[in-house]
Amino acid sequence: MRLSLRFLIPLLLALGAFAYAVVPLVDQLTLRWFVRDLDGRASLIANTVQESVQDLVRAANRARMLQVFTRITRDERLYAMAFCQSGGAQPVATPTLPSAIRCSNLDRFSGSSGHLLQRAEGPLLVSVRPLEAEGAPAGNLVLVHDMSFIARRSEETRKYLFLFFVGLGATVSLITVVIAQLSWRGWVQGLRALVRGEGLWRPSDQPDPPELRPIASDLRGLIRDLEAEHRSRDRDQLAWTPETLLGILHGELRGQEVVVVSNREPYIHVRRGADIVTWRPASGLVTALEPIMRACSGTWIAHGSGSADREVVDEHDRVVVPPGRAAYQLRRVWLTPEQEAGYYYGFANEGLWPLCHIAHVRPTFRTSDWEQYAKVNRTFAQAVVEESTSPDPIVLVHDYHFALLPRMINESLPAATIVAFWHIPWPNPEAFGICPWAEDLLDGLLGSNILGFHTQFHCNNFVDTVDRLLEARVDREMFTVSYRGKLTAVKRYPISIEWPPSDGLLTKPVEQCRQDVRQRHALPPDHAVGVGVDRLDYTKGIEERLRAVERLLETRPEWLGRFTFIQIAAPTRTRIGQYQEYEARVRAMAARINERFAHARHPPVVLKAEHHQPEDIYEYYRAAELCMVTSLHDGMNLVAKEFVSSRDDERGALILSQFTGAARELPEALIVNPYDTDQCAAALHMALSMPAGEQRARMRLMRGLLQDFNVYRWAGRMLMDAAAMRRRGRLLERAARPERPSRGSPEYETARSR
Ligand code: G6P
Repeated sequence: MRLSLRFLIPLLLALGAFAYAVVPLVDQLTLRWFVRDLDGRASLIANTVQESVQDLVRAANRARMLQVFTRITRDERLYAMAFCQSGGAQPVATPTLPSAIRCSNLDRFSGSSGHLLQRAEGPLLVSVRPLEAEGAPAGNLVLVHDMSFIARRSEETRKYLFLFFVGLGATVSLITVVIAQLSWRGWVQGLRALVRGEGLWRPSDQPDPPELRPIASDLRGLIRDLEAEHRSRDRDQLAWTPETLLGILHGELRGQEVVVVSNREPYIHVRRGADIVTWRPASGLVTALEPIMRACSGTWIAHGSGSADREVVDEHDRVVVPPGRAAYQLRRVWLTPEQEAGYYYGFANEGLWPLCHIAHVRPTFRTSDWEQYAKVNRTFAQAVVEESTSPDPIVLVHDYHFALLPRMINESLPAATIVAFWHIPWPNPEAFGICPWAEDLLDGLLGSNILGFHTQFHCNNFVDTVDRLLEARVDREMFTVSYRGKLTAVKRYPISIEWPPSDGLLTKPVEQCRQDVRQRHALPPDHAVGVGVDRLDYTKGIEERLRAVERLLETRPEWLGRFTFIQIAAPTRTRIGQYQEYEARVRAMAARINERFAHARHPPVVLKAEHHQPEDIYEYYRAAELCMVTSLHDGMNLVAKEFVSSRDDERGALILSQFTGAARELPEALIVNPYDTDQCAAALHMALSMPAGEQRARMRLMRGLLQDFNVYRWAGRMLMDAAAMRRRGRLLERAARPERPSRGSPEYETARSR
């Protein structure tokens, strides 16, 4: 009905406007016609009476002339008649002759088509015709026609025109409504089917409605564009927040629960005498994922590695976190010491970690470790199945500890959407081929729907490796791998940090941070401080960094006693020989440098080889003149991004290794090659002497980037891609359903007779 009104009202309005414009036109036209007719009639009367009037003029019989005129004017249209003799002042006129017409002003009324004289009862047409007698002008005959009948006729015409337009409007409206209803319904159904994608797979006995044909391809194109725009919405969306992420989850993923799997848990419960304390581990992965989980709820499955972890879980090994702010559920998986040794320390951290990082540490691969790795992956797959509340959850599998997990989940939950993210670099095919189980690892990862890396370079390396080691179909344009009947999209998602940083990290003013840190280390208020924050890992380039500090003091002795580099180094993977040796080397180097410059008023290096909570780390970031990241190889490195996020005062300088993923996103940092000690020392000097304006300009650009590309955007893009993939999957499923047989075909007849 509403639809019909939408047609009807404009139509009636248009007809009304048309009628409004047409009626005066018709009036004018008919008036013109009548004037012409009556004037012609006047000529006819004048010609007819010409001879008798000539005779009467000659006979000067005015009385007779008046009688003739009176008789003639009995005609209902001829209103008055008069004769003005040449030279004579008094006309012979019927009494009806209007006073406005006098023999002296006849010039006003003469003309080829008469003259209209307006009066209250209606207009009069005055026609003046000259008469001759014996070749000489005898006078003028005046004929006055009454035109009031025209007004009456015009009134009638208007009435008929009005009725005509009403009738026309009603008929046209009725026809329009009927047609519109019929075709609109058809169109809407057609378009809806097309939008739903059914138009693409309609039964063969029902072709596209002919009126849809011309727009069908345009519409499909439009939908494709809209989808593409929708997919790239993250590019335009300026503020990515927990709410944005929640919106995606509720909108595009229809509230589907998200299950996250990682080895490292976000909260570790540790026994300290009679107390249980909560630790936040030093892990870039945890730093990034924790705010995401706080925003999305869901379940995070991880290895329960804390000494008091078992004491705080419920009977299903679950604990609600963060402590005191219950936002999501942590499901802990327990490992035996043998499993932990083989899977975590052995295969993951002695094998895959050095294999993927170019840090000149040889990987070690043991069959027993591999077996534990596969076993633990199986245990986590089981946990995913247990935690999934639906057959098609979205599972985010994180990092090199779980290369086999995507395939295992895919086998148990074939409808699950699996997004695997590899947080560390992916080496070239030659390097990866060193691993005796390289093909199994690739097969495991290719069980995922989406496989993410921080950089395009690592995506390329992965695809090259698959191409080299597996019989898979690699599409380098779409960046997909098709293997064992499953399609995996290989995509770049540069990880980031929470923006703005969470409560409490920036509450202490920068000045206060500066004072507190300097007091703590017995440094004077104007002492320059550099900071490094890492796990004690050989990939982090801590030795190279300390060597650069030493070189600075050699080349720029003015900094001696005026600059101290504070290295926060969280012990990590301490059971592994390589890590023990590394820690020993770092400690020795710090001690040696301090000894070498023992004569300085303040030590050049402070090594804090212990675990720090995020609040403590942010205090150091905010207190420092510079932050130095010199990883020898790093997937992304979130310390660089954290330092930038901590400096809401837009001060401080960042020195950043060119071998980090972060260097691609933060070119305003002082980019260095950590193997080039002189270059790093020069960068230290440059950072220490950088004018405030330059610090601000660089910081602003870097902060702008982090604001736009925060961790919510990282996760949001992955979830949006997962959602798009699910939609596509459903569409293909529908397309794969058997087509209805076409009318008249043997199958159709068989189906009908059943
Ligand atoms: C890297 C890895 C993470 C890991 C973190 C800390 O960032 O990509 O998966 O959690 O190091 O290492 P850890 O062995 O202590 O978990």
